[in-house]
Amino acid sequence: MVTKFPSESITVMTEMVMPNDTNTLNNLMGGNLMRWMDIAAGICSRRHSGCVCVTASVDSVAFHNPIRLGEIVTITAKVTRVFNTSMEIHIVVHAEGINPGTRRRCNEAFFTFVGLDEWDNKLSIPKIEPQTDEEKALYASAQRRRDMRLILAGRMKPNQSEELKAIFTNPNA
Ligand SMILES: CC(C)(COP(=O)(O)OP(=O)(O)OC[C@H]1O[C@@H](n2cnc3c(N)ncnc32)[C@H](O)[C@@H]1OP(=O)(O)O)[C@@H](O)C(=O)NCCC(=O)NCCS
Repeated sequence: MVTKFPSESITVMTEMVMPNDTNTLNNLMGGNLMRWMDIAAGICSRRHSGCVCVTASVDSVAFHNPIRLGEIVTITAKVTRVFNTSMEIHIVVHAEGINPGTRRRCNEAFFTFVGLDEWDNKLSIPKIEPQTDEEKALYASAQRRRDMRLILAGRMKPNQSEELKAIFTNPNA
């Protein structure tokens, strides 16, 4: 199976915060931002895999800075690592107002997508080869994040994770 680079499927989605996207404080509603993040991650996963992909999980999302009505929101999605039928997508969100210097990083998240065929059978996904230093660091740390989310979801036992078993098991027990 062919190996691909993260740059081949990078997805940049730009939106403007309109009145019906906001909460009662005139800030972008968290749920609307998560919807855009899910769409960007879904497009990125499909570009990489070439098949229909579904969201399997979203790691914790923190909203560091409010995003105001009328601001421009840029959501960047990149594949960090492919496992077998699943892949991890890193999302970074920036917001900017009209004035120069207002561009700021507002949040980030890791999504996991699974590739499916037309009968909902899971598909093997082409591997990814990181190129930049940042891509290599995200690739290397992806195994830990995957093990952690599978343990928290009850899909992996802590002692099955080479990366994390020392955290979860008592060596003196
Ligand atoms: C995601 C889904 C396809 C997983 O299918 P499954 O039969 O339960 O899962 P499996 O145990 O065969 O695992 C398939 C892959 O998903 C991964 N996965 C499953 N649950 C996961 C979770 N909670 N977090 C991260 N990855 C997960 C597994 O690690 C595996 O990856 P791998 O093949 O790369 O090792 C299935 O649960 C599903 O269809 N969920 C609904 C998806 C959906 O509708 N999303 C939109 C939101 S409403």
